[in-house]
Amino acid sequence: MISRSERGVPDGDAALSRVSAKTRILVIGIGAGDPEHLTLRAVRAIGEADVFFLLDKGEAKESMIRLRRDMLAAYAKPGHRVAEGVDPDRDRRPSDYPEAVAAWRQRRAEITGDLIREHLAEGETGAFLVWGDPSLYDSTLGVLADLDPPVAVEVVPGISSVSALAASHGVGLNRVGGAVQVTTGRRLAQGWPEGVDDVVVMLDARQAFDAVPAEGVEVYWGAYLGTPDELLVAGPLAEVAGEIARVRAEARARHGWIMDTYLLRRTTTPPPR
Ligand SMILES: C[S@@+](CC[C@H](N)C(=O)[O-])C[C@H]1O[C@@H](n2cnc3c(N)ncnc32)[C@H](O)[C@@H]1O
Repeated sequence: MISRSERGVPDGDAALSRVSAKTRILVIGIGAGDPEHLTLRAVRAIGEADVFFLLDKGEAKESMIRLRRDMLAAYAKPGHRVAEGVDPDRDRRPSDYPEAVAAWRQRRAEITGDLIREHLAEGETGAFLVWGDPSLYDSTLGVLADLDPPVAVEVVPGISSVSALAASHGVGLNRVGGAVQVTTGRRLAQGWPEGVDDVVVMLDARQAFDAVPAEGVEVYWGAYLGTPDELLVAGPLAEVAGEIARVRAEARARHGWIMDTYLLRRTTTPPPR
């Protein structure tokens, strides 16, 4: 077992308050849209950072940027600095998906390393504000792990869109003693995962639930979770798939973008293949 102090992370309450002589990087989960989902620990971490690194895609959503800006205005210390970089573009339909992702991550690591070297002085604390929770479909930790020379990273967990989805629908993700799989729309499009009846789907640009045999499946769908624009639809997939498609298309047209997540729950065993 490796203790927090062996990893260079001070124990207990001192974890975020002791500034080491070394440069340190905080990766702070800020929740998936609701400003009140920011944890007390995240508030404290934001208040400790000297420099915030923002790496955005050109088309970063205005409401997401505003949420971050408001959090910094409310909790960052006076005199903090913001260093912005532009996320490299990623080929969305590559012939070789793993290779394209690896190249994109490499480019992102270079940009991140340059930002840190350029803007963070020895002994200062830098921070990345990560949407939702840093452990879930976010490349920040992977990119920081690839940096050369390595940097000391402390992670502050956040409320993920998956937690926000379950809370808004008032459901648990698993059933008694059961497993849950969190996956992507791209993977679901290849078929229902083996061995699980409860599947949470993220990063689904193409409504992969359309291809799921709907009999005996319930869906709990949510978009813009935690924000004033939150949309929720739940029910038997066979009955509500059309409604989700309609609500989704309308919302996307109205906002110009959409972020949605859903739980698919199989309530009856499918016939053997
Ligand atoms: C790059 S991942 C980031 C996930 C994030 N780290 C988390 O913990 O939720 C982006 C995906 O998260 C989901 N997502 C994030 N925020 C959301 C929100 N407010 N409402 C619905 N889905 C959201 C969507 O599935 C979206 O495609």
